[in-house]
This record gives sequence, C-alpha cells and structure tokens, in this order.
Amino acid sequence: MPALVLIGAQWGDEGKGKATDQLGGRVDYVVKFNGGNNAGHTVVIGGETYALHLLPSGILSAGCTPVIANGVVIDLGVLFTEIDGLEARGTDTSKLVVSANAHVIPSYNRVLDKVTERFLGSRKIGTTGRGIGPTYADKMNRVGIRVQDLFDEKILRAKVEGALELKAQVLLKVYNRKAPAVDDVVEDLLSYVDRLRPMVADTGLLLGQALDAGKTVLLEGGQATLLDVDHGTYPFVTSSNATSGGACTGSGIAPNRIDKVIAVVKAYTTRVGEGPFPTELLDDAGEKLRADGHEYGTTTGRPRRCGWYDAVIARYAARVNGVTDFVLTKLDVLTGWDKIPVCMAYEVDGRRFDEMPMTQTDFHHAVPVYDYFDGWTEDITSARTFEDLPKNAQLYIRALEEMSGAPFSSVGVGPDREQTLELRPLV
Ligand code: IMP
Repeated sequence: MPALVLIGAQWGDEGKGKATDQLGGRVDYVVKFNGGNNAGHTVVIGGETYALHLLPSGILSAGCTPVIANGVVIDLGVLFTEIDGLEARGTDTSKLVVSANAHVIPSYNRVLDKVTERFLGSRKIGTTGRGIGPTYADKMNRVGIRVQDLFDEKILRAKVEGALELKAQVLLKVYNRKAPAVDDVVEDLLSYVDRLRPMVADTGLLLGQALDAGKTVLLEGGQATLLDVDHGTYPFVTSSNATSGGACTGSGIAPNRIDKVIAVVKAYTTRVGEGPFPTELLDDAGEKLRADGHEYGTTTGRPRRCGWYDAVIARYAARVNGVTDFVLTKLDVLTGWDKIPVCMAYEVDGRRFDEMPMTQTDFHHAVPVYDYFDGWTEDITSARTFEDLPKNAQLYIRALEEMSGAPFSSVGVGPDREQTLELRPLV
C-alpha cells in the first residue's frame, strides 16, 4: 500500500493529527503538502499533549521520516521554535526533510495578512493572520521566496527587493504602515540558513524513489475540503488546495501512485473564521458541543463554531477527494444527547438540494433538512471494539456511513491514541 492521502472532510479540526499519528507508526514517510502554520494538530500520547502547527504529525513517530513538501509555506521562526520545543521534550527531529521548492513566509506577509483583514472589516475572511494568503499569492504572482533562494544571498536580495517594491507602496499608501527594509528581511531569513541547510532536499525525487523502493508514504493535508481554494466555500477558504488533488501538486507524487484517500470526519461539524455553515448551532446546543468537544483553535485559541453532522458535505468530500475510507472522530462528544440530528439535505427557497448547491448565494441560504437519531448515555471512552459500543451509537455510525458515500474504517472515542476502534485496517 505505497501512497496514502489523508485529508479533512469538513472545515478542518476533524482530528487529522490523531489519525496521522496513528498511521505514523505504520508508514515510512509522513508528508505535509499544503498550508503552513495556520494548521493545528493536537496529538495526545500517553496523556502528554503535543500541539503541532507546521511540523507533520509523523514527527512524533520514531522510525518515520517527516517531510515538508513543496506545496507548504514555511514560517522559519515557527519551524525552529517547534523543533526546539519537541527536542526539549525528548522527541528526535533529526529526520525532518524540507523541500527546496517550498516557499517561506517573509515578515512582510504576516503584516499584510493582518492589515488586509482589518481593512476588509465586515467582509473579512477570519484568517489565522499567519501570512498564509499573501505568501500563496506571491507564489502565483511569481514574486515568492523559496527555501532554495536562501542559499544564494544575491538572488535572495534581488527577490526580496522585487517583492517589496510594490508591497512597500501598498503598506505605506493603503495601510499607512512602514515596510521593513530589504536588509532586515534578508538578514532575518539568512539567520536560519545554517540550521536549515542540512534538512533541505529534492523531496519530489526522494518520495518518488521511496515509492519505487516499496516504502509507504502518507500525504497529510492541512485544513480541509471546504477550505480548499478551488472546492471549498470560496472566498471563505484558505489559499491552498487541501483536497486530495493538492497532495499530488503539493508533493510531486503522481496521481496514479495514490492508493488510498482517507478522509477524517467529525461526528458533528465545526468551523473557524467566517463563511457559511448550514448546520451551525447558535444556541445552548452549540455551546454544549463546544464545551464537550473542547472546540477551541489549536493555533489561534479562537472558539470554533459548532453544529450537527452534515451528510451533504460528507458526500461532497467523498466525491471531490475520491475517498476510500472515512475516519470518524470524537463520537464520545455526542454522549448524553437524547436525539442527535443529522443533516440529510438542504432546502433553499422551497427547493431541495441533496448535493452541494452550485452557487455561493444558495449555500448561504441553505437550511438543513434533519433526520433524528436516538442518542446514548453510556460512557464510550473505554470502548475498543464496535461491539463495545451501545446499540444506538452503533446505529448512528452505520447510518452516517450509509449516507456519507464511503466505508467508515475507524472511529475515535477519545483523544488518546488508544481510544480508537478500528473497523477495517487502514494500512
Ligand atoms: P488562512 O489559512 O490563515 O488564510 O485562513 C483562511 C481560513 O481558513 C480562515 O477561515 C481560517 O480560520 C481557516 N483555517 C485555516 N487553517 C485552519 C485549520 O487548520 N483549521 C480550521 N480552519 C482553518
């Protein structure tokens, strides 16, 4: 089973970190292919919590090589802070490999991200403010700074000068902010180069050769399907391709080498930032889901918006990504509800939609059509097999599976590595 893709099926924070970590012990490479330190993975191992933002979760599995591939945007300060934090806790990070083609996030793009959001006012996206959008925009505009540029000071200086030429004007004339000096930006980036150099490789070649040698590669997506810049709820999305197609462009692995696409889906739905969310609960029920599920951002600490499971979204994710397996997470958070609503379809101005509506306008007006499932009160956090679960929890899982478009291979009943029911082997 050489190449596996693991992505989020909803708006992120589905528990991909735990799923990746679980597979990490059984794969040779874990590759981050999109996003940057806007992601937040929480992994709990033996009661110890690790919050990762930029590093692939595979970093916590001994024997696994973590790779930051070309599709990622890297804040070098964050990279080394995370590495130092893990090393201080005894985690060996020496195997980390970084693509020479990945883009770095210069300081001016963090500033631009924040001032642009402020400028947008009520039209803001609710970004994480980490400079992700401006750095991907630079990549597309061909004024980005890549990891390999740090190895040639002359080129680096010329590229920073080129990028700042326009940005300095924008910062000053539109946002009334002084742009950083070219020298300061160059100096800041070069301060990392000695530590960075030994990690840098042609990761596309490395992964291609690994697959040829029969190694197993796990491609881990940041964010999720509905935050994908092409297939998500644009413009309330991140600036990269978080769907399975992005795994190929973001890593240099060809589509015909992908064997499995695993989508992580939460037993309910959450979203951070602005944008449409049909099953959102703005009442006590939403509060309860947020409290029971500890739904606060790993990266920003922001409270997440919470709502019921949306089968329309799950089916959409199954189709767009070619999902072969779903990993259902956080089922334990639903313990204690008398009835559990599940969104089967939408209604928009009297019309029924069984699939995602084509237009943003319709999606903004989508009203969920709910089915109601019987809940359970028993504590399920120590269940280790499907049969250990109360009957109603079993029925809930089977019903979701039926309506979501791909088999459920694993179910999470708590944050720890062990709190997982494996229904079918993933690797
Ligand atoms: P950006 O990625 O910082 O540009 O933010 C764009 C949108 O994606 C915002 O709504 C963020 O809240 C959302 N977002 C980015 N990364 C994550 C994530 O890891 N989980 C959930 N939402 C995210």
